[in-house]
Amino acid sequence: MRKGKIIAVAGKGGTGKTAISARLITEILKLAAGQDVCILAVDADADSNLPEALGMSYNKTAGDIRESLLEDKHRDVTLDVRSQFEGKIAAIIEEEEQYDLLVMGRPEGPGCYCPVNHIIRMIIDTLTKNYDYTIIDCEAGLEHLSRRTTRDVDVMLVVLDTTLKSIKTALRLRRIAEEIDADVKQMMNIANKIPEGMEAMIIEEAKKYGLTIEEIIPFDPLIPEYDFKGVPIVDLPDDAPSVIGIRRIARAIM
Ligand SMILES: Nc1ncnc2c1ncn2[C@@H]1O[C@H](COP(=O)(O)OP(=O)(O)OP(=O)(O)O)[C@@H](O)[C@H]1O
Ligand SMILES: [Mg+2]
Repeated sequence: MRKGKIIAVAGKGGTGKTAISARLITEILKLAAGQDVCILAVDADADSNLPEALGMSYNKTAGDIRESLLEDKHRDVTLDVRSQFEGKIAAIIEEEEQYDLLVMGRPEGPGCYCPVNHIIRMIIDTLTKNYDYTIIDCEAGLEHLSRRTTRDVDVMLVVLDTTLKSIKTALRLRRIAEEIDADVKQMMNIANKIPEGMEAMIIEEAKKYGLTIEEIIPFDPLIPEYDFKGVPIVDLPDDAPSVIGIRRIARAIM
């Protein structure tokens, strides 16, 4: 049986969610070497960047399938959405040697509670049980909670940077998760892109707002360099300062 552990990476825009999600996959796989661990990477941002960070390409998204199924169901109400979607989702999951990638694409609207969407969400929930870890690279902000993408997760990594806005987004995420009674078992605040010497200040600032920073990933010039040159983040050297920070997170959540 697989672990079925779900880890969502959330936070303000541009804080480093995608970079952390991508490299977290590599670090978990390295730490679990020889243990037959299976990971599902989910790009839940409509502006999909995770495939690039992983050095992968994709053709279709879950959103594409949903749109066409909604149209088909409109034409033929007897259509069996469950079996149709199950068949089609398997075909769009991109497979790497040690992990799979699912790109969600265009999200359903917050008020979209039609039966088709319900069935699709259930199938994706079930899918995560076939993996030891599912890493969800979320869109920026809070919508993923109200859309239910991240309602039932084991760990939500909330990524902050050196901006007050990122602290405010972290606070809102916490509040909304409570308000909607989301089943987020653990919320872990991660400060990313922190210049040397600013660590204590970040911890203190966050504390003023009631937030505990549990891990700090330093500013690492290699990440913007890789991003700029289009080199996948998963190819960062093992001793890069950012990678060492992400490895500590992997250890803490495995
Ligand atoms: N530890 C780091 N050190 C230096 N730069 C970083 C670090 N982490 C991320 N970056 C840079 O910050 C920018 C945003 O990173 P990334 O795209 O991973 O953030 P994001 O939170 O996924 O953004 P979005 O909200 O747009 O999806 C990129 O230019 C990336 O190169
Ligand atoms: Mg991103």
